[in-house]
Amino acid sequence: MRVLGIDTSCDDTAAAVLDGPRTLRSNVIASQVDLHAAFGGVVPEIASRAHAERITAIVDRALAEAGAAPSSIDAIAVSNRPGLVGSLLVGVAAAKSLAWIWDVPLVGVHHIEAHVVSACVDHPDLEPPFLALVASGGHTALYLAEDDVRIRCLGGTVDDAAGESFDKVAVLLGLPQPGGPHVSRLAESGDDGAVHFPRSRPTGDPMGFSFSGLKTAVLYHLKGPGGRRDAPDRPDLGTSHADVAAAFEAAVVDVLADRTLEALAATGVRNVAIGGGVAANRRLRRVLAERLPAGARLFTPTPSLCTDNAAMVALRGHALLVRGVRSPLDLEVAATGDDAAG
Ligand code: KG4
Ligand code: ZN
Repeated sequence: MRVLGIDTSCDDTAAAVLDGPRTLRSNVIASQVDLHAAFGGVVPEIASRAHAERITAIVDRALAEAGAAPSSIDAIAVSNRPGLVGSLLVGVAAAKSLAWIWDVPLVGVHHIEAHVVSACVDHPDLEPPFLALVASGGHTALYLAEDDVRIRCLGGTVDDAAGESFDKVAVLLGLPQPGGPHVSRLAESGDDGAVHFPRSRPTGDPMGFSFSGLKTAVLYHLKGPGGRRDAPDRPDLGTSHADVAAAFEAAVVDVLADRTLEALAATGVRNVAIGGGVAANRRLRRVLAERLPAGARLFTPTPSLCTDNAAMVALRGHALLVRGVRSPLDLEVAATGDDAAG
């Protein structure tokens, strides 16, 4: 089954063609990073306008790069939740129009569930059941992919997402957005032992995450206790920004790795996948690989499949379509993904 995938959940306009389940024919992504750079974060109105301007060309390019005629598309999968509503609407409107014109089935995909299976795109040997850590700018949670369709959320963040904490710390360090790659690059030249930041866990939530205390600890370390975000660094700081970046990254990675390994032990599965923008983080990949127990295996998507993309949406859509799931042509969008437990 040949599936056209579309993702416009946040600030990337993405389309992909997948000959399901494993042969990716094209994976086209138009980033909007430049459009939002001056604002220190994604501006929803700018994002949806840019999606509207680009979606037709991006779908055309995905078809052309795949060498796929429109008549060869068997079904369309589109992210319809969770995300920025104005952004989601553009991709969903395009998907509905094409499904109607081409007279093919349409399926709405939960964007985070697509991140869960993203490692399967380039690892055909990754089969359920597997554990997945999804750490992105908007979400951080652990999932159990029980079979080809059922994905169960085991626990998630009670405050900031891991990527969001990277982005906020980047602002404190005067680095551009999205901050994760910049903090990570700066951390490479720092000493992660120069300062110790907390590794917190929400009380009574064994598989939960909490990153807002860590962000505040970095703020107070840089600006002094009770310091404001726009204040200058305290004069007696004594650690370089590279040291702070390294110590912060070490704390985030420890928390993500600890919780993932605990979930691995609790579920008894052997395979663990990572997904979401933070899964591109080199330290996270290294620490997880080093700490994995004997017999367990780590599956990491290539960086372009970690951040938002439509290949993972096409793959998730394929699994649903094969099971007979179809969405109506009046498919709606939702800002939240409360049906994540599926
Ligand atoms: O999955 P994604 O592209 O979009 C969302 O759905 O949120 O993730 C983007 C997030 C941003 O917060 C970005 O700073 C973070 O992923 N990120 C990273 C790295 N690359 C992207 N965080 C840490 N290290 C990286 N190398
Ligand atoms: Zn995402």
